[in-house]
Amino acid sequence: MERQELEEAARKILLSNLRQGVADWNGKEYSFVVPSLTGYPFQWFWDSCFHAIALTHLDKQQAVAELRTLMSGAQPDGFIPHIIFWEMDKQPDFLARNIVGMTNPNTSATMQPPIIAYAVERVYEATGDDAFLQSALPILTAFYRWLSQNRDPDGDGLIAVIQPEEAGTDCSPKYDEALDLEYLTNQGFIAALSKVYEAYEPMRGDDRRILAADMFHFEDVLVNSIYVMGLRSLARLLGEEGEGREFAQQADRTRAALLAKCWDDEAGAFFDLSGVAEKPVKVVTISSLMPLILDDLPRRYVERLVDEWLTSPDHFWLPYPVPSVPASDPKFMPGNPRGFIWRGPSWMNTNWFLVHGLRRHGYHDLAAHIVDRSQECIEKSGIREYYNPYTAEGLGARDFGWSTLILDM
Ligand code: GLC
Repeated sequence: MERQELEEAARKILLSNLRQGVADWNGKEYSFVVPSLTGYPFQWFWDSCFHAIALTHLDKQQAVAELRTLMSGAQPDGFIPHIIFWEMDKQPDFLARNIVGMTNPNTSATMQPPIIAYAVERVYEATGDDAFLQSALPILTAFYRWLSQNRDPDGDGLIAVIQPEEAGTDCSPKYDEALDLEYLTNQGFIAALSKVYEAYEPMRGDDRRILAADMFHFEDVLVNSIYVMGLRSLARLLGEEGEGREFAQQADRTRAALLAKCWDDEAGAFFDLSGVAEKPVKVVTISSLMPLILDDLPRRYVERLVDEWLTSPDHFWLPYPVPSVPASDPKFMPGNPRGFIWRGPSWMNTNWFLVHGLRRHGYHDLAAHIVDRSQECIEKSGIREYYNPYTAEGLGARDFGWSTLILDM
């Protein structure tokens, strides 16, 4: 596929998944791309950031509109929800199949990996739109402050998630133990998650109390790596000599905590910390590699992640890399997991993160290989939600928004 064909295919999806109108519940205008018209007909937080980045290659004004719409969902305390249910008529059907933590009918009470400041930076770079930047800065500032004030109760610089979907890697096997997962199926996952949700019911909206209850408390490596990336963007946008200093320092603290607390020298990988007691969860998944997105990850960590895990054919270096779980894990499921996601297939968003990280660390050939194979997945199977890492078979939702990130690889 030539670049132009790829752009046409991406444009078709982003346009057909575009939703525009005025919400009848808050009177606000919306203009954004849904992840998938069938499975995910609302606005999702990190999806929206990825859509905006892909749109910088196709329609810069729509990239601005995407992020403006997302930021219009920011709450008075700074929190930005992971789902905004712009078109409420589609909600009953969705809630019949999915569970969502909510404190009001129109938005979720869940966060997602905080990539938004990076997305704003990219859209600003692409457009030079100062009015957009000026309107975004107070919202971003409030959001990143909300994260440190509400999600870092022990003050170590690592933010915690209260349920797996907050990390965006919903059913990853790294959560099985904490969730007490009985059946290794999507139904089993929803049953286990429902128990957590029930316990949260009287505390919903009070995240500090929820974290103190210690039901599900994960200092997640993927979330925190992305947090550092977002903080660095925000610091640059604000000017590191001025207001941005606070966020630059926060980024340094979080990065230092990732190295000091999540690195396991024996395994040669980063592990999440579970519970208030911060027990390392010694399960290697795609998130163990995510600190590669940090420009200043010291060489020693970079090399061990790349040599021992990423490029090992026993682990992550499969025909269509990078799988969400290494092939060496007994729970690895490369094929269609029937909604039991993030347990084997390769995803475009994590490939996008790793490709950029690898380039920054000088691994241009490895990055190029992942890009080639990602493109082959799309050529063989269309723009799907995720792919079988052995065959490139397309799985999950069709015409999936964030897989258009291929344009930005
Ligand atoms: C799934 C993914 C999550 C994504 C959402 C919408 O729940 O795990 O990361 O944001 O779908 O695409």
